[in-house]
Amino acid sequence: MERDSKKESDYYSSILKDRLSKGKLTEEPYNLLMNEYPFVPSCFKDLLENQVFPKTREIMHEMKEDPLHFPDSTDHQTLNLLFTMIILSKSTKILQLGTWMGFSGLVILDALSKSDGEGNKMFVTVDPNDLQHSKAMNFFDKAGFKKLYQLVTFASESSEAENSTIKYSPYDVIYIDSAHNDVQIIKELEIYFKMLRNGGLLICHDSGDLNGLPNSNVRKGLKEFIKKNHVEGIFFDKDGKKGWHFTGAFLGKKYDPLRG
Ligand SMILES: C[S@@+](CC[C@H](N)C(=O)[O-])C[C@H]1O[C@@H](n2cnc3c(N)ncnc32)[C@H](O)[C@@H]1O
Repeated sequence: MERDSKKESDYYSSILKDRLSKGKLTEEPYNLLMNEYPFVPSCFKDLLENQVFPKTREIMHEMKEDPLHFPDSTDHQTLNLLFTMIILSKSTKILQLGTWMGFSGLVILDALSKSDGEGNKMFVTVDPNDLQHSKAMNFFDKAGFKKLYQLVTFASESSEAENSTIKYSPYDVIYIDSAHNDVQIIKELEIYFKMLRNGGLLICHDSGDLNGLPNSNVRKGLKEFIKKNHVEGIFFDKDGKKGWHFTGAFLGKKYDPLRG
């Protein structure tokens, strides 16, 4: 029998929304996504629009008018994945490599501000580009997230970036969306994976099977790293996982010796 994907998407969407609003999705977010919501990315489709603060939504629309904006700087499915996982894992510390002008950053900040995690919250985001950072700062502040973030204006592989980010570690979530090649992502993971707490989540953009398209090397570098470091994870991509955006994403979890 042919699946009715609209109905399926509405079904998962309503369950997720319900659970989120009751704050129930707290334990083992990774397993939950794997087992209860296996690869129904369309369920995320309108989650974001309904869940972010109205002010965040307004700024997202304003960003889209900026001449620097490009569609899918982070695609909506990966944005939703980030948003959901931050809330489910009750994150308080998040690191991003690759700010651009703050599109994913804004969604991360919105989710972080809603997360029930205990302790001081901080979103740290790294990008060597001054112009983009000044735009991001403007958008973040306008959205009301002034005290919730730190911009680190250095290349991720530099010792300056490492020193400026390690002081906020360990992180609950690390999101990588920076220079898009295998050598770079391995370098970044060698520096930053140790800053992820045990059981923390690693999310990488552009990890799909892009077959020679630009950014296709991210997957290669990532695969090498996760194999060597025994990182458990899923690749979300168009071919493998029912209709994911073509750029693809990776969601992995750092091994936790206490919880497995
Ligand atoms: C695709 S954009 C990021 C999009 C952003 N995550 C969003 O959703 O709006 C890639 C960004 O990575 C930055 N970048 C390039 N090389 C980098 C490096 N070595 N370290 C950190 N960021 C880098 C670029 O300046 C650019 O802003």
